Amino acid sequence: MNKPLYHFFTNDHHRIETFLNQAILDPGNINMHSYHQFRKGLLRHIKMEEKTLFPAAKKANPDLMQKIIPRYRLEHGALTALMVPPPTLDLIKVIHYVLEKHDFAEEEPNGLYDVCEALTEGQTAQLLSILEKTEEVPAHPPNPAPIAIESAKRALERAGYDFDEIIRLSNDEIS
Ligand SMILES: [Fe+2]
Ligand SMILES: [Fe+2]
Repeated sequence: MNKPLYHFFTNDHHRIETFLNQAILDPGNINMHSYHQFRKGLLRHIKMEEKTLFPAAKKANPDLMQKIIPRYRLEHGALTALMVPPPTLDLIKVIHYVLEKHDFAEEEPNGLYDVCEALTEGQTAQLLSILEKTEEVPAHPPNPAPIAIESAKRALERAGYDFDEIIRLSNDEIS
């Protein structure tokens, strides 16, 4: 089956992940240029899903999408909040962990993209043209205030994740 929306969003996932990997090529020295590219890319990606993909799918089947969307919206909120404080290795580990699970759920067979693609059949070309024209979200400079990381942790909790637990899991994996 030809799945243009699936391919469009999946390619964008890979592009965005490459920036994040580049940012930590030298873990002792986070590459802020790559991290900034990552942040801009992910904010725009979330905007494309929230402002174009979800509304189109919701219009086709409001009941179904009402059940599916909340998980993704909470994770988008958590990822957005995690990109507010200045990046540290721990913060990037957490972003990476959540993003991997999030992207997988969107991409897996019968996952979010397959559902949306089926619901918006017949409007694919129109949606792709809107998606491609999506403008970047203006990103503020990183906020070093403690409240930024605290609210990121709370947004993460609302999405069902625990910051310290993720760090522990990823440290176990390394050792
Ligand atoms: Fe998403
Ligand atoms: Fe996505």
